[in-house]
Amino acid sequence: MASISLRAVQKSYGVAAPTLRNVDLDIGAHEFCVFLGPSGCGKSTLLRMIAGLEDISSGELLIDDQRMNEVPSAQRSVAMVFQSYALFPHMTVFENMSFGLRLAKTPKVEIEHKVREAARILQLEELLQRKPRELSGGQRQRVAIGRAIVRRPGVFLFDEPLSNLDATLRSQTRIEIARLHRQFEHASVVYVTHDQIEAMTLADRIVLLHAGADAREHGSIAQVGTPMELYHHPRNRFVAGFIGSPRMNFLPATVVQAHPDSVTVRLTGTDEILVVQAVAPVLQPGQSVVVGVRPEHFTLTTTSTAGVTREVILVERLGEHTYVHLEQPEGQPLISKLSGDSQARRGDRLHFGIPATCAHLFDENGFAFARSGAVALAA
Ligand SMILES: Nc1ncnc2c1ncn2[C@@H]1O[C@H](COP(=O)(O)OP(=O)(O)O)[C@@H](O)[C@H]1O
Ligand SMILES: [Mg+2]
Repeated sequence: MASISLRAVQKSYGVAAPTLRNVDLDIGAHEFCVFLGPSGCGKSTLLRMIAGLEDISSGELLIDDQRMNEVPSAQRSVAMVFQSYALFPHMTVFENMSFGLRLAKTPKVEIEHKVREAARILQLEELLQRKPRELSGGQRQRVAIGRAIVRRPGVFLFDEPLSNLDATLRSQTRIEIARLHRQFEHASVVYVTHDQIEAMTLADRIVLLHAGADAREHGSIAQVGTPMELYHHPRNRFVAGFIGSPRMNFLPATVVQAHPDSVTVRLTGTDEILVVQAVAPVLQPGQSVVVGVRPEHFTLTTTSTAGVTREVILVERLGEHTYVHLEQPEGQPLISKLSGDSQARRGDRLHFGIPATCAHLFDENGFAFARSGAVALAA
């Protein structure tokens, strides 16, 4: 059983702007917590600080309420699985999996028992005498996970463990990791990925880290929440655009009128009027805002419903769905997700309804207004 707390944790490499700033976070015992964010946002650095492989520049790291800043990696109850597997090539699977236990002078009988147990769980029993070069990528990754399991750590740390696997193996191994987490009732998991599908499917809670243009926000937490909280209630445009694929459409607009729990806007470059269920009493008529609509929330309908009328400029047929790209007077083309058997063709002019409860509203700085009305939130 291990909980993790980060208190105002900061990381700077030399004199450059901090890589991570002001990270405050509590991860519960047995929680599956995913650090998500674009490449370079500091996910691995944060994980490596928890593992003890990287110094903490300022702030405090606690595991089970004990300060860990100065505790060497080997004495923290953590085990890490890397993207690159990091197996010893000259050792067999058995020797790789038992390496840490042998170092710790664990009795031979106990080593044998623990390795066999892990091999059974990971279906590696037949492979224990092989060398890593005789294994597939998926099998190597299972050995790397096995090496972590035999140590029975309080915390499993995974750094993009699926990135080197092909698509089929990636989804299989993802399911396996979820199953393992359920089996190891005592352990919590911190899992780093840039892949929002992995994050959505595995996480109890997602910690989404900022990256990019705004140096003041780079390396800070953009939002922490359950996958469905981030999907339904993104706090800002960065989160709204990062969660969901294809990503949320952003339509510039002007406020016509703000009501207590909804806002009427006119979409820029058109006469189209929309109502958005959002609580934004501070807005004044004439102010610029941005409306966000996910591709799956456009409904192909008649022109009598509030929405947008647009020309189709590209059709992508994926079998199960069809993505239609729509001309947009300002900014990126819109993308709408239709059924697989949609008859839409390039050049069609179609009307898409935008239900008031499905739209999101952002101010000029990208902050989201709270959504009102019935927004389904899965537990
Ligand atoms: N040893 C280092 N020295 C200097 N900068 C580093 C070092 N390690 C990582 N960084 C920088 O820290 C930032 C975050 O890196 P990293 O944690 O690996 O990101 P992520 O895992 O999210 O892709 C990057 O901009 C990277 O260049
Ligand atoms: Mg990384």
